Amino acid sequence: MIVRWKLGIVVAGALALAGCSGETGPSDTPNDDGLPPMPEFPDNPTTPGGVDLGRRLFHDPVLSGDGTQSCADCHRQAFAFGDPRQFSFGIHGDAGTRNASTIVNPAWQTSQFWDGRAATLEDQAVSPVQNPIEMAADWSVVVAAVAADPDYPAAFAAAFGTSEVTQERIVRAIAQFERGFVSADSKFDRERRGEVAFSAAEIRGRDLFFSEEAECFHCHAAPLFTDGRFHDIGLDLDPPDEGRAAATGVVFDRGKFKTPSLRNVEVSAPYMHDGRFATLEEVLDHYAAGIQRSPNLDPVLGVQLNGGATGLGFTPEQRADLIAFLKALTDPSFLQNPDLGPPSS
Ligand code: HEC
Ligand code: HEC
Repeated sequence: MIVRWKLGIVVAGALALAGCSGETGPSDTPNDDGLPPMPEFPDNPTTPGGVDLGRRLFHDPVLSGDGTQSCADCHRQAFAFGDPRQFSFGIHGDAGTRNASTIVNPAWQTSQFWDGRAATLEDQAVSPVQNPIEMAADWSVVVAAVAADPDYPAAFAAAFGTSEVTQERIVRAIAQFERGFVSADSKFDRERRGEVAFSAAEIRGRDLFFSEEAECFHCHAAPLFTDGRFHDIGLDLDPPDEGRAAATGVVFDRGKFKTPSLRNVEVSAPYMHDGRFATLEEVLDHYAAGIQRSPNLDPVLGVQLNGGATGLGFTPEQRADLIAFLKALTDPSFLQNPDLGPPSS
């Protein structure tokens, strides 16, 4: 079992690599904290000034149409930068149809959003500011407001060499800040480093998670606990959501969504792209006995539905063990890291 678990990690490393082929970045040697080396971003290298500026912008409602909403209002650190509400409300009180994604180890992600429609964090950050059901602002107005602020121009100079405020610089600074959302100090990580021991339930849960019986590790691949790819896991799509097909227009992508990282999943309820499940128990009910047959159902799950089965059929003990393991992915030092919170001044 342990051997298989280690294999899971190696496979995950290879997959992460495959996702970034051709870019400078990850080699297959994990760094000290167990994650693959941080990819490099030659178009927007991280600097201390850029991170400080991005931190301020991420927490600043100046980016919204009426100056009331910041990125952090929907991406709350204590909830792994997700939103405990099923749907977030924009400045005009409109709700969307998807649950706000968590933002955990985004530097290693090769696409953003549940359907992956943005390639980079820079591209992603353009969207919420102008989205009419989110921050509903006009970028040119936002740029002017930031430029008129008494302190921002100096922060832009510290980040980018001159005090000029542009949309591109705003999203670059935010992306630099977000790339610092690194979570790699959960009990899972500490156990791997030999600093703590797992309980019997956590060990059973881990062995099941990384087994062909439960299949979880294929998609939630360690050490990031996501493969960065898109899968249909047999949720009924009512109301309908095209998922990945909304970004690609490809019929085979219907109903596929980006695998979310399971790091800090204990605190990121509600679950799935539409926040339909309130608890991890409900998520496991789905995998155990709620999988719907659909044209694009992932074969890893489809193969489990032989003979009329509706899921992986976990026993109550197996569910409890899996949940004990999932909770070992919680990283308090990430959720409370003061450097990721609002700037104090
Ligand atoms: C009104 C709530 C709201 C606000 C404000 C908001 N977001 Fe989001 N964010 C969401 C929702 C909902 C999604 C998922 C949407 C989807 O996938 O279609 C999301 C997705 C994301 C993702 C994708 C993460 C992933 O793993 O795919 C990132 C990154 C992100 N937001 C960053 C930001 C930044 C930066 C800002 C500020 C400029 C911001 N958000 C403002 C609600 C919000
Ligand atoms: C075929 C790939 C695949 C397999 C196998 C798989 N998952 Fe998932 N998982 C996903 C995808 C994709 C989503 C998001 C689906 C959506 O929102 O429509 C998801 C969502 C989740 C979520 C919700 C996370 C969140 O932040 O919303 C949890 C928890 C979870 N899976 C746990 C598991 C466990 C435990 C197993 C093994 C029993 C497992 N998964 C097996 C791909 C997979």
